[in-house]
Amino acid sequence: MAKSILVTGGAGYIGSHAVLQLLQGGFRTVVVDNLDNSSEVAINRVVELAGEFGKNLTFHKIDLRNKDALDKIFASTNFDAVIHFAGLKAVGESVQKPLLYYDNNIIGTITLLEIMAAHGCKKLVFSSSATVYGWPKEVPCTEEFPLFAMNPYGQTKLIIEDICRDIYRSDSDWKIILLRYFNPVGAHPSGDIGEDPRGIPNNLMPFVQQVAVGRRSALTVYGNDYSTKDGTGVRDYIHVVDLADGHIAALQKLFESNIGCEVYNLGTGKGTSVLEMVAAFEKASGKKIPLVMAGRRPGDAEIVYASTAKAEKELNWRAKYGIDEMCRDQWNWASKNPYGYASPDSTN
Ligand code: NAD
Ligand code: UD1
Repeated sequence: MAKSILVTGGAGYIGSHAVLQLLQGGFRTVVVDNLDNSSEVAINRVVELAGEFGKNLTFHKIDLRNKDALDKIFASTNFDAVIHFAGLKAVGESVQKPLLYYDNNIIGTITLLEIMAAHGCKKLVFSSSATVYGWPKEVPCTEEFPLFAMNPYGQTKLIIEDICRDIYRSDSDWKIILLRYFNPVGAHPSGDIGEDPRGIPNNLMPFVQQVAVGRRSALTVYGNDYSTKDGTGVRDYIHVVDLADGHIAALQKLFESNIGCEVYNLGTGKGTSVLEMVAAFEKASGKKIPLVMAGRRPGDAEIVYASTAKAEKELNWRAKYGIDEMCRDQWNWASKNPYGYASPDSTN
């Protein structure tokens, strides 16, 4: 019998890629998303890309905090596990509107966990973030590093991680994997699904992409006086398809072992500077990205990259793609969909 997986936030950037891989892996997949930061077009494209497996996807436009609606979904299907992507993720907005972030991310997760427990579904994969390492004292970041929240968004990730550790302590039937993503970029090689942020992008690559297609005039580089190879910030960029694969590996682990509550980094283990990433994108796209040098962005760390040893050893997973493939696939998506899932006149 095919296993059934509930995916919260499955219409979003990472979720849509993971849902496609779940379908292709033979899983039945139910997506719950309120479409606050995504489009139903992404779901339709995933169904098309999945071909004969597309029929195994069901979509419900609901908010996670709607307990009754969530309860009905669990009453109609016996889920084998849940992958929980749904959440708000804009760091700056979280500083401006902390209550919105605590309400959406924390209450949403508590509601989900309560309903899961009520229906006896106790296997969970949760989207945490490398943001929980704050400004790491050294690199690569191992899962044992001290944790620190730099803003309300990061705080929600820390709180949810703690909630997960606590519920496992209270009831050892739970099996939970917390995945700390480094910097997801790129898109599915088809160019039919990818990242489509609303408004002005906060993250590097969506901004670069919008400069390349002529929606923005130049990239502002936040800081060129860091102690790094070229003075710009260094991060661990990971292809979203590799990241999605990491979720399938995590699910297998939940199904095959007595894991308890464990945390894994998902990164490549390699650090790339802002200028190196821009150069790789220029090469992939043939477009020049004009740069404006500016001061450091408050709250930014200097160098962050992952230790990948634990995920490699215990999940039997490692990233396959490098920055050239990330930029190639990001450009393929951007050039095919310069306005993301929307039409040009409906965006800013
Ligand atoms: P995204 O915004 O594209 O996807 C999140 C999805 O969740 C969206 O489709 C949104 O509409 C939905 N959602 C939000 N709140 C909801 C609610 N209350 N009820 C139902 N649906 C809701 O973001 P993403 O980049 O795909 O990120 C997925 C997860 O991974 C998030 O939890 C994010 O914090 C985490 N993460 C992302 C990154 C990154 O750089 N993209 C890095 C580390 C961690
Ligand atoms: C940011 C978030 C982090 C979140 C992560 C993934 C902040 C302070 N941190 O991290 O919490 O987990 O995204 O969603 O927002 N850069 C520019 N110009 C830009 C944008 C970025 O130079 O317009 C630089 C940054 O200074 C950084 C690098 O590019 O050195 C990557 O930035 P970004 O993509 O925002 O990721 P993080 O800083 O890792």
